[in-house]
Amino acid sequence: MDDLEQRAARLIAQARRVAVLTGAGVSAESGIPTFRGMGGLWRGRDPLSLATPEAFAADPALVWDFYNWRRRIVREAAPNPAHRALAELAQRVPHLTLITQNVDRLHQRAGSRDVLELHGNLDEVRCTRCGVTSDRANEELPSLPHCDSCGALVRPGVVWFGESLPPGIFEAAEAAVQSAEVFLVVGTSAVVYPAAGLVGTARGGRAAVIEINLEPTPVSGVVDIGLYGKAGEIVPRLVSA
Ligand code: OAD
Repeated sequence: MDDLEQRAARLIAQARRVAVLTGAGVSAESGIPTFRGMGGLWRGRDPLSLATPEAFAADPALVWDFYNWRRRIVREAAPNPAHRALAELAQRVPHLTLITQNVDRLHQRAGSRDVLELHGNLDEVRCTRCGVTSDRANEELPSLPHCDSCGALVRPGVVWFGESLPPGIFEAAEAAVQSAEVFLVVGTSAVVYPAAGLVGTARGGRAAVIEINLEPTPVSGVVDIGLYGKAGEIVPRLVSA
């Protein structure tokens, strides 16, 4: 452990309230492609162009094929040491709030509870007509899955670009960050708002911000400590220290 990591570990050890924001990078070592950078294209398309209400309206089968592909990858994946270390950290810190932009539920599979899912999840689907949400985890869904209640087309239970976050979730995340003494920002490119804005929220409060990423991001200039390397290696070191 180098000096910076030791400083970070001390801050965490002394904190009574810790907030954590994770992004796709925390699941990269579980084999789940990230959105930007190393993720690349899906069938020649930019994955971000498929995560929109417009894409779903234009070609629901194409968008469902993309989500069914992601659901399969996630089903076959397992939590990695970063997920497990964050679940363990929650046992050691008096108050820990885990906020994630990920839809893969690997945090929950690693044992984290009460995760604030800013962007929904891949397990649930929502009816485009009656609005009923149902849990279809571990199921192989057809190309155009339908609602059990009313028979209309369902959509993935995720938040797409241009849509609002689930009610109350962002407010809960902001409150946790505002009252935190340490805010860990792990594996996110920090370019998608409002999630990325939580770093500003932390700076307006009292939290020391610790960024863990493979490489610097747009928020690196304002964080207190930047630790650059694999989340699956750095996070377990911080937690065990
Ligand atoms: P991105 O794909 O934008 O960024 C992943 C980040 O993880 C990058 O900064 C990588 O450098 C970093 N990274 C990759 N592997 C890592 C590793 N092993 N250890 C540490 N860091 C690693 O993913 P997000 O920031 O999560 O939203 O993207 C934010 C949102 O944009 C997503 O939730 C999704 C996407 O579009 C919606 O779909 C609404």
